[in-house]
Formats: sequence, C-alpha cells, structure tokens
Amino acid sequence: MPGFRVAVAKDIAACALTVPMQEETWSGDVIVPPQLMLAVVHNGGFVALGYAEGDDRPAGFVFGFLGIHDYHFRHHSHMLAVRPEYRGTGLAQTLKEAQRDHCLDQGIEIVGWTMDPLEARNARFNFGKLGTFTRTYFRDFYGAMPDKLNQGLPSDRVYIEWPIGHDRTYKRLRGEDAPPTLDQAESEGIGYLLRAASGGPGRVGEPAGASHLLLEVPSAFQDLKARDPKAALAWRLAARDAFERAFADGYAAVEFVRGTNGRGAYLLVPQPRRDQREGGAGQGQGPLGTK
Ligand SMILES: CC(C)(COP(=O)(O)OP(=O)(O)OC[C@H]1O[C@@H](n2cnc3c(N)ncnc32)[C@H](O)[C@@H]1OP(=O)(O)O)[C@@H](O)C(=O)NCCC(=O)NCCS
Repeated sequence: MPGFRVAVAKDIAACALTVPMQEETWSGDVIVPPQLMLAVVHNGGFVALGYAEGDDRPAGFVFGFLGIHDYHFRHHSHMLAVRPEYRGTGLAQTLKEAQRDHCLDQGIEIVGWTMDPLEARNARFNFGKLGTFTRTYFRDFYGAMPDKLNQGLPSDRVYIEWPIGHDRTYKRLRGEDAPPTLDQAESEGIGYLLRAASGGPGRVGEPAGASHLLLEVPSAFQDLKARDPKAALAWRLAARDAFERAFADGYAAVEFVRGTNGRGAYLLVPQPRRDQREGGAGQGQGPLGTK
C-alpha cells in the first residue's frame, strides 16, 4: 500500500490539476472550472490533492465550499474522487480527514454533501467509514445529467450529514467502532422496508413504528444500469418511495450494512424528536444523539 501526501490547493495551477480527474471520473460536461475553485478557496472553501508516493500525478482530490444551513455555517463538500488505481487504498478517507481538519479549524462541525443512494460503494464509504447519516431525500436533484455515472436516470440524491466533532465520528475514522453486518441485523430480526426480490426490487413496506428497518439497494448499480436499464429505473423508483416514506415518518439512515454475500442495505432508526433532544436542535445534534 503506497504512502500518501495531501497538498492543500492555494493557486490556479493546483486547482487546474483537478480537471483531468474530474474528466476521468465524470466527463467533460460537468467540470467545475479551476478559476471558480480558486475563488472558493479564497473564501473559506477547500480544495486538496492527494499524492501517492512515487507518482507525480495527483491520485485524488476533494473540493468543498462554505455554506449556511439552518442559520449555522456548514461546509458543503461538492466533489470527492480517487483515480481507479488508488481506490481501496485509504486515500479517500485521508482526503476527507484533511477536509474535516480544515472545517474544525474554522469552527464548523457539520460537513454536508449529496449522494446517489443507489451507489453501494459510496454508501459504505460515507456511512461505514466516515460515520455520516441522512434524513433528507431529493427527487431528481440536478435534473438530467449527461455524465457517465449519472446519465439515463433521474438524479435522485440523499443529503448526507457528517458531524465531524462527534465522538462516534472520531471512533469510526480510527476504526474503533465497526458497523454491524447485514447478517447480524437479520439475525436480530430487523425487518425490511425494501428488499430485492427475483432480480428487482420487492414491494415497499410501511415503517409501522419499527425501532430499526433495512432498506436494500443493488450491490453494483452502475453494472446493473449498463446491463438492465429497466431494472435500474425500478430500483430508483422503489428506493425513492422507501426513503420518502421512512423520512416522512421521522426515520434517518445511520448505517450501511453489508452481508457476507455482498448484499448491502441502509439501516434506518427513528430520529429523536426535536423536543426530546437535550438543548434543542443544535448543530451537532441529530439521529446519532447529542454530542
Ligand atoms: C467515492 C470514492 C472517492 C471512494 O474511494 P474508495 O477508495 O473507493 O473508498 P474506500 O475503498 O476507502 O471505501 C469504500 C468501501 O466500500 C466498499 N465497497 C466496494 N464496493 C462495494 C459495493 N459494491 N458495495 C458495497 N460496498 C462496497 C469497500 O470494500 C470499502 O469498504 P471497507 O473498507 O469497509 O471494505 C471513489 O470510489 C471514487 O472516486 N468514486 C467515483 C467518484 C464518486 O462517486 N465520488 C463521490 C461522489 S462526489
């Protein structure tokens, strides 16, 4: 496993180095111009490049900007990408940790971003390794997108919240608090709100006040999309229905659990009600409990 170095981008040349990675990951149609990135960097935002030992080309990057949410400053992480040959090496987490450090230095405790809920690898990275949660669903957030990861389907997104000052997040990043497995969740009798059935999504159930629920998604959505666009659309619509029902009933997704057979599912729990949370709805509070 190579060692990594993170270089915070401060000038136009460093911001321009993200462009080939943006093109490789998404496509030329959705590039964030380096001039805009530099303006963001000069206004509290963050761009960082990750380098692997012995390779002069950057191996990945992260880009985010300052925002305001519910009257509080928040960092919005707009892009994270690692070149295919460096995936699974830990670089993605290293880049997110650099972004977290930048935000903590600014006194910011929540980083947010959007994610396609059907991308199981990203879900595993966000929930399993970083310790994020979600309680918000957006239908077709960006409209039709032409790039290779998004073309052909409505661009539904969940809004990810990452409480970077939270104990649970620290433990998760240090690998001290491993997520449960899907097999454990099933053996504890947790029921499915949505489960795969004969090659496609099954019928969406009702949350019905359960203390925990599972919401399954395909294990390799891009492959499914290429192989069977109709099934991919059926999953998009079923997952949309399931998330919307659950979130409307006050649930949040707090884990993404994986089975020994490669299946993966979100674990949903009811959020504490606003009036039950200690001290009201402060920045670091949410379905993971108070800080
Ligand atoms: C998202 C991205 C930055 C993550 O980097 P990465 O190096 O792949 O991430 P990691 O390997 O550290 O973590 C991914 C986790 O998902 C797991 N995983 C891989 N394939 C999976 C699948 N099909 N289903 C579920 N989990 C999967 C990995 O095993 C790993 O978990 P583990 O370490 O607990 O075993 C990278 O994949 C990427 O650049 N993707 C394309 C761009 C993108 O989607 N960016 C995010 C949206 S802006």
